[in-house]
Amino acid sequence: MKIPLVDLKSQYEEIKDEIQEAINRVLDSSAFILGEEVTKFEEEFAKFCNTKYAIGTSSGTSALHLALLSLGIGEGDEVITTPYTFTATVETIIHCGAKPVFIDINPRNYNIDVQKLEEYLKLSERSGDPDPSSPRSSGRTRPKAIVPIHLYGQSADLDPILKLAKKYNLKVIEDACQAHGAKYKGKRVGSTGDIGCFSFYPGKNLGAYGDGGMVVTNDEEIADKIRCLRDHGRREKYEHQMIGYNYRLDALQAAILRIKLKYLNEWNEKRRKNALIYNELLKGLDIITPYEEEYAKHVYHLYVVRVKGRDKVYESLRTKGILCGIHYPLPLHLQKAYRYLGYKEGDFPVAEECTREVISLPIYPELKRDQIEYIVKTLKKKLT
Ligand SMILES: Cc1ncc(COP(=O)(O)O)c(C=O)c1O
Repeated sequence: MKIPLVDLKSQYEEIKDEIQEAINRVLDSSAFILGEEVTKFEEEFAKFCNTKYAIGTSSGTSALHLALLSLGIGEGDEVITTPYTFTATVETIIHCGAKPVFIDINPRNYNIDVQKLEEYLKLSERSGDPDPSSPRSSGRTRPKAIVPIHLYGQSADLDPILKLAKKYNLKVIEDACQAHGAKYKGKRVGSTGDIGCFSFYPGKNLGAYGDGGMVVTNDEEIADKIRCLRDHGRREKYEHQMIGYNYRLDALQAAILRIKLKYLNEWNEKRRKNALIYNELLKGLDIITPYEEEYAKHVYHLYVVRVKGRDKVYESLRTKGILCGIHYPLPLHLQKAYRYLGYKEGDFPVAEECTREVISLPIYPELKRDQIEYIVKTLKKKLT
């Protein structure tokens, strides 16, 4: 049996006619950049997230970049996040001229460790500059924002993060690129912080047939600035208010995503059902299965387990046709690109341990019970 990590083909087969119709609609209209399809999708996605505004972007990376820029983040600013994420979370902080500061993760849910975040903020306040309003003149950097990641599809613990953000006057940008439809205490992720960012990379729970992204917010000024920045800094055709970017979502992707959005809840429920089957079948094995926090509704973008001797288990699953993944094999503070930040091995022990033990097992809505049984049977043979 061959089981892929994600199966975009079977999903496409189910909705082929609707997708073809949407594509033809755009081709017939000859309106390919922004326009009605994008506006409608933005309205529908804002409604889905329960936010006032949604602004389509060219990717999750550009969504994060625009979110940071819209808050005026730049040189002299620190942006706090974890080293256990996809590189885009951190790249975009650096593209703004700011400094990423890492906090270790919670081993139970892989999201930012709120206690360690608080310790860092306390310390940074105590060792602070006598004149906090002039970090640039003293060459010091100051925390300006937190980017919690809702990793694997489960919300970070937002209430304490927001409380700390208020106390230390920090903005919160939710990296919801892996968590379309996930909830925190009944509220959709992306709608609680100042800004939420989503990716529509094809393998995501809501995936385009190419690149795409979205920023959501309840703040009119931020929404307006992001809308302007994503389209060359303009509101009217040749009137450029600011130096902007070509970070637009295109009409074909928007039309496709409008179809897929209608199925998102149903697909997320199927992922949750498959996660339950895995949890049940994996009981009693020497393996750590995902933990769904009381405050969270997990949407299982990834079903990540932890095992000792991970590399051998991973290889043997793959040789049996089970195309599992590793998210992530190396934490960002140990990647060559980020060495200049000065972190070293041992600085984030939880993230480091997780990178040695995690395996992502296939979990997509179309995955069948007998496929899960085969995966678990193969795993069992390797573990016992
Ligand atoms: C946590 C996280 N942040 C940001 C991104 C970037 O999104 P995109 O690939 O659409 O640029 C991703 C995509 O994989 C992600 O998983």
